[in-house]
Amino acid sequence: METKSKKIYVETYGCQMNVADTEVVLSVLNEIGYTPTKEAANADLILVNTCSVRDNAELRAHQRVSELKEHKRRNPEVLIGILGCMAERLRTTLVEKNNLVDLVVGPDEYRKLPKLIEDAYAGQRGIAVKLSRVENYDDITPLRTEGISAWLSVMRGCDKFCTFCVVPFTRGRERSRSLKSVIEEVHKLSAQGFKEVTLLGQNVNSYHDGEYDFADLLRSAAEADSTMRIRYMTSHPQDMSDKLIETIAVHKNICKYVHLPVQSGSNRILKLMNRTYTVEHYLGLMQKIKQAIPEASFSTDIMAGFPTETNEDHAMTLEILKEVRFDGAFMFKYSPRESTKAWDMGDDVTEELKVERLNEIIELQNGIAFDINQTLIGKEVEVLIERDSSRSADDLLGRTDTNKKTLFPRENGAVGEIRSVKIERANAQTLFGTLVPSMN
Ligand code: SAH
Ligand code: SF4
Ligand code: F3S
Repeated sequence: METKSKKIYVETYGCQMNVADTEVVLSVLNEIGYTPTKEAANADLILVNTCSVRDNAELRAHQRVSELKEHKRRNPEVLIGILGCMAERLRTTLVEKNNLVDLVVGPDEYRKLPKLIEDAYAGQRGIAVKLSRVENYDDITPLRTEGISAWLSVMRGCDKFCTFCVVPFTRGRERSRSLKSVIEEVHKLSAQGFKEVTLLGQNVNSYHDGEYDFADLLRSAAEADSTMRIRYMTSHPQDMSDKLIETIAVHKNICKYVHLPVQSGSNRILKLMNRTYTVEHYLGLMQKIKQAIPEASFSTDIMAGFPTETNEDHAMTLEILKEVRFDGAFMFKYSPRESTKAWDMGDDVTEELKVERLNEIIELQNGIAFDINQTLIGKEVEVLIERDSSRSADDLLGRTDTNKKTLFPRENGAVGEIRSVKIERANAQTLFGTLVPSMN
């Protein structure tokens, strides 16, 4: 393999686990001389890190890969690879049937990339899609490209097997890194000047390294650097223990933001989904958290049109949104995934009805989020300034502890600072205000 520096271009789709994995991939490839580029046209190696969670995610990836192949047509030396969940799900069909790409590498096989690239240069297609029971990349320092907010994977895989979900098939069995290795990384991030770290896992609160649980991990992370903001996602309602709620409540630097996917407001549907909790349990949990952490904000995931969902089930979903009053929600139409249990239940809610129900959910939820955000007008909120606004060079973007995006004129603010912002107006997604002059 040539030793001169080669360029790698990566596009990442899907969840934050994929974003974190891309940083692992960049680190592995950095070892053999690849440096990242933002221009696909300059790249020697083009990778697309993909998501399989819904059909439209896969369609988009297929489309991007065929667009990016243009670069290979112009220069046959360019290698193209598919990483991530689609690589795992579709495996050899990606290569054999479609003759699409040079590399197909699943989420547990990124250490093999250097060898696979070498094979690909030698004219052999590189496929590696085994799932592992132990791989967690804990000895690889991810190549992070921005310096304020860091993603940190603490566990991989998922054993929950919700009946709609492809993740247990694309990511394999649940496994946790040791608390010690995670906390060492938190210390390193702190020394590098990171201001915020998000502990990541598909089910981050079922983290267990054999000795310590997720509450222990959060506490240790919070104590490692008390000036650093600690976030975490995604939690499952089943594993939201009292100990965990207490830990979030007592540590000032653990963000008061809880993302807790509920999916549906109907017990019948929750059971069919294998979500393992009832609406009553979920509401009880919410109440407990609100009591322990009055300032907390909440978000959730909602799905419309799961098999057999009736108008009554749908009405119950609207009801739970009204009852909890989430600050935000990720809302989806059910998308059947092959090899999941729900696949065999048929897909009997028509597309038209799914769209109608989803729109109702979105309209209701946006109204609630808008109303909640209006109550912040006139108040001062503390934000971590994350970056320049993408809309205007004169504005900065920060995030509150409760995970609300906040936009304000730059004035004397700088990325990385924690500052107070006085809120002047708000919509359902964003707060707008001005910096409060700092004391020093
Ligand atoms: N581990 C997390 C995230 C899983 S994927 C969790 O348990 O919440 C993120 C969200 O995508 C899920 O919460 C669900 O709302 C949605 N989702 C997953 N599979 C889906 C499917 N087949 N169709 C539509 N939405 C889906
Ligand atoms: Fe999928 Fe359920 Fe696991 Fe979340 S908990 S990743 S929805 S199987
Ligand atoms: Fe998508 Fe895989 Fe994440 S299916 S949501 S990228 S774990």
